[in-house]
Amino acid sequence: HFRAVIFDLDGVITDTARYHHRAWKRLADELNIDFDEAFAENLKGIDRRASLQMILDRGNVAVDGAEFEHLCEMKNDWYRELIGSMTRDDLLPGAFEALKAVRNAGLRIGLASVSRNAPTILERLGITDMFDTVVDAGLLKRGKPDPEIFLKAAADLGVDPEDCLGVEDAASGVAAIKAAGMAALGIGNPSVLGQADAVISGLDDFILDEYLFEAPIEQAS
Ligand code: G6P
Ligand code: MG
Repeated sequence: HFRAVIFDLDGVITDTARYHHRAWKRLADELNIDFDEAFAENLKGIDRRASLQMILDRGNVAVDGAEFEHLCEMKNDWYRELIGSMTRDDLLPGAFEALKAVRNAGLRIGLASVSRNAPTILERLGITDMFDTVVDAGLLKRGKPDPEIFLKAAADLGVDPEDCLGVEDAASGVAAIKAAGMAALGIGNPSVLGQADAVISGLDDFILDEYLFEAPIEQAS
C-alpha cells in the first residue's frame, strides 16, 4: 500500500484558490477580458505565467515581454496582499488532522504546489515542518498537468510513484498525478475531477485507512 502522500496546497490545505481567483479576476477586469467561474476553474493549478497567457489568449490581447512581467507582478502583489493576513485559522477543515494521520501512520509527506508563494503560506499556517519535502516551484521546467512536480516530490521522498497517493483540487493537478503513475484523490467537485480515482468534498472526509487498505482506491459517489 501507499508509502507517501503528496499534497497540493492551494484549494486542498487552505482556501487560497479563491485568492488566486480574485487577483486574476482583478487583472482580467483591468484588461477588459471576460473572466467567469468556468474559466477560473481551468486556471486552478496552472502556474503564474501560463495562467496569464491563458487570460491574454482569451481576450486576444498581445503584450510585450516587459508588460507581461509587469502584469505577473501586479497579480502577485495583489495576491500577496490577500495572503498577508493568513494565520493557522486558515487551514481548511480536516487539513491538519489529515497531515497528522499520514504522519502517525509512518508515511512520508510531500508538497507539490507550483506556487512560488507556497513556502510563505506554509509558514503562515504553521505547518512547514510537517512536510518531508516541499518541491521548489522555481526549479520546475514544466507546470501541471505535466507530472514533473509529482515525480520530483516522490524522488525527494525516495518512494516509487506507484506507492504514492496524490491529493489535488484541480483538473490539471489530477492529470499530473495520473501522468506520474500515482493514485489520485480529488478534492472538490467530481464533475471536474473525473480522472481522479476517488473524490471527496474536503480533507474533513479524508480517511487514511480507506486509501491504505483498499488499493486501488475506488471512485467515490
Ligand atoms: C497554484 C495555484 C494557481 C497559481 C499557481 C502559481 O498552482 O493553484 O492558481 O497560479 O499556484 O502560484 P504563484 O503563487 O506562484 O503565482
Ligand atoms: Mg490547487
